[in-house]
This record gives sequence, C-alpha cells and structure tokens, in this order.
Amino acid sequence: MERQDLTRRQLLAAASAGSLAGLASSTIGTYGNVTNRATKLAILGGEPVRKNKSWPSWPYWDENVVDSVTKTTKSRIWCRIQSKSGTVPTFEKKFADLVGAKFCVATGSGTQALHTCVEALGIGPGDEVITSPYTDPGTISSILTARALPVMADLDCESYQLDPDDVERKINENTRAIMPVHMGGQAADMGRIMEIAKRHDLKVIEDAAQAHLAEYKGKKLGTIGDLGCFSFQASKTIACGEGGGIVANDEELMDKCYTVHNHGTSRGGRTEVAGPKYRMNEFEAAVLLGQWPGIEERFARRNANAAHLTARLKDVPGIRPQKLYEGTGKGSFYLYAMSYLKEHFNDVDRDTFLKALRAEGVSLSPYIKNGLHREPWIDHILSRPVYKKMYSKRRLKEYRRQCECPNCDRVCAEMAMIWASGPLLGTKEDMDDVADAIIKVYENRDKLRSI
Ligand SMILES: Cc1ncc(COP(=O)(O)O)c(C=O)c1O
Repeated sequence: MERQDLTRRQLLAAASAGSLAGLASSTIGTYGNVTNRATKLAILGGEPVRKNKSWPSWPYWDENVVDSVTKTTKSRIWCRIQSKSGTVPTFEKKFADLVGAKFCVATGSGTQALHTCVEALGIGPGDEVITSPYTDPGTISSILTARALPVMADLDCESYQLDPDDVERKINENTRAIMPVHMGGQAADMGRIMEIAKRHDLKVIEDAAQAHLAEYKGKKLGTIGDLGCFSFQASKTIACGEGGGIVANDEELMDKCYTVHNHGTSRGGRTEVAGPKYRMNEFEAAVLLGQWPGIEERFARRNANAAHLTARLKDVPGIRPQKLYEGTGKGSFYLYAMSYLKEHFNDVDRDTFLKALRAEGVSLSPYIKNGLHREPWIDHILSRPVYKKMYSKRRLKEYRRQCECPNCDRVCAEMAMIWASGPLLGTKEDMDDVADAIIKVYENRDKLRSI
C-alpha cells in the first residue's frame, strides 16, 4: 500500500521542487525513508537530522588497556629482546591465531612491516613492484626505501581496488612482486591477483594495513599471499598509536623477516644481512593485548552496522557503496566508503554535497585528495642518479607515461567516506541518521545549487 502512496507523494514533492526530470531518470522510492523529503536543508536554516549526539570515540580503550600498560611499566620488560614471554612475543602469537596464520612478526608501523617484507624477499635496486596509487604513502615508501621501483596500476572505479587487467599489463622482466592494497578493509580481487602472480612467477605482499579480520573466500586477508602486513596506527580498527605486523605460514621466510626487522640480526644472534631496526616495543604490544577482550564483538558490530547502512543506501540514486568482490566475507570497516555521482544530484559538486551533509550533523570525508601517481615523489626519484643508473632511459620514460591512472583520479573525485573504526561501533539509530541525512540531501538536490 505504502509504496504506491509514497510514490504519488514523492511525485508531488518533486514536481513542486521542479525536479520531475531528475525523478524520471532515477529510482526514487526504492530506498525507503522519505520523512525528510519536505523538510528544509539545515544548511539553508532547517532542522538538522542529527543534533547534540556524539559518535563512539576512537581509539578504543578501557581499563584492561590501562592495566596492561601499567603491568608492563612495572615489569621493567620494555623491549622485546628482554623476554621471550613479554608482550610483543605474546601479541605475535595471539595475532597470528586471530588471523589464522602460523607466524607473526610485530614491527613499529605498517610501513615498516611492508618494507621488511620487500627486503626479506630480496627485492631491491633494479626490481619493480606493482601496487595501487590509491593508498597511504607508506605502501609506496616501503618499495622506495628498498630502492626498487613502485609501478602503479589503475583501479576498478567501483571497488577502489587494483584492476587486475592493468596489473597484468604493467608486468615486465623486472617485476618481482604485486602488492595489492585491501582498500577500506575490504578484499582486493585476490582470486585474479593470485592467479596472475602464479602465472608470472611473482610474489604477493598483501597490504592489509586497513583490513584486520576481513575475509575472502573463507581466509583472513593477509594470509592469502606470500606475506601479509597490518598497521596498528591510531586510526586503525586495532590500534596502539604506531605499530605494525607481518603474518605468513612460511617459517623460513618469517625468520628472514625477523632478521631484517632486527637490524639484520637473526633469532640466533648472528648479524647476517643489512636491515633496519623496526622492532615493536613492549608498551605498544601492551596496548594491543589490553584490547583483546571484546575484539571480535567490535568487528561483528561494525559489520552489522555496515550491512544496515548499505541496505539503506544501496538504492539511493547517485550513492554507490563500495563494490565487493564475490568471495568477500566479513569486512574490517576501517572506512565505510561510497561514491558520490554528481549527475544524480543536479551536477552539484561533491564538496557542496559534503557541506550540506555536515550541516545535517553527518560528516563524510573525501579521503585521499590525489592518488600517489600525482604526488611530487615521482620527479624526485626520476631525477636521482641512483634511479638513472639502475633503470634504462627508455624504462624511466615509459614509467612516467605509466603513471597515468584515470580511474584513480575518478575515485579521488567521487569518494565520500566515513572514518569507520569508531563511528561504526555506534547504534542502528546512528546509522539511520547517516542514511536519513544523505537521503534528505538527495531529495533536496534541486536546492543545492543555491549554497
Ligand atoms: C593501505 C595502507 N598501507 C600502509 C599504511 C601504512 O601504515 P603505517 O601508518 O602504520 O605505517 C597505511 C596506514 O594508513 C594504510 O592505510
């Protein structure tokens, strides 16, 4: 009953707002809530959808975390090499168990974890690693620090993940590895990426910095490739300020990672290779271990809230929640990401849309402004004698051309996301506020031009 009734009311409202043309081309009515349609946008003086309410704050802590840090302080075991049963070795075992890997080596950051893997695989000057331009600079930095060449493949515009076809196009005789980034805490197209890696005899280092406990085809992200890396930086869904971790099942390779991250010194105490000092300290691990109680419940809550939000948003014209690949299981929800397609919003630019939403009490972020293919580090490395020595003139010229990633540019222009670690621990009503605010702005899209 409601359906027909609502459709008629929507038509009347849209007609009075002069937007019948927009209605004809959209699927208005399928997304449910219409209570905000007739109300005035907060940015134009109306009542905001969300008022005087706060979001669950982040990073998470409770008395367990405080007790854990106090215990470490009093123990005087402040460095991992002081004890085999200190907080870092304990954390490594628990984290490996949590993600279903045999081994973990904890590091001081996600960037350090990635760089350790690059070195442990023997990747260095003259080698190339294919990765995404839509990521934290730490991804690229891990390859550059090894003096190898990060080659950026373009994205799938709807999932924000690496496009496997472009990855394959960019493989050459110098390519040694693929470093897929699980953007937002959702799986990259791992089925295809693993198949390409196998066919070209390449290693896979998963950048799972945002993807704790997320799943793909029954496996946790970070455990599908040769090595997987996580970040525990303050904003991440498991956080200790700054921290990182590597997981894998190959003991020999993980021993190499240990040696590299321990200034080249093996567990047996011999200094065997060149390596930085990237050890996690005991206080960082104490903060992480203090969060263990309730850790899985918090992930389940983020997933339930994300599912509710997606159900509310998926049919809103011009709002496209992140595409997930077949085989994607639970997500990490470091970000709840969506594309804003302005052609459904009277061609109003994204910043105006975000401004109108902010006035409704809901803050979405554009996230990464420019893909890394548009940042000045490329000029820096191309002008360095060391890169000119290692790669031919022809290769470096071609490299610059390969730095065009138009799909990534589009993703940067369309992205609207929630920093989800804290907010997705909120209530169903909090999620409804987000959806209601977006729908209200959509239904008043003809007024956005006056802002
Ligand atoms: C996708 C991705 N890769 C790598 C990193 C680097 O991790 P860290 O900041 O812990 O060095 C981050 C952190 O934001 C990230 O999001």
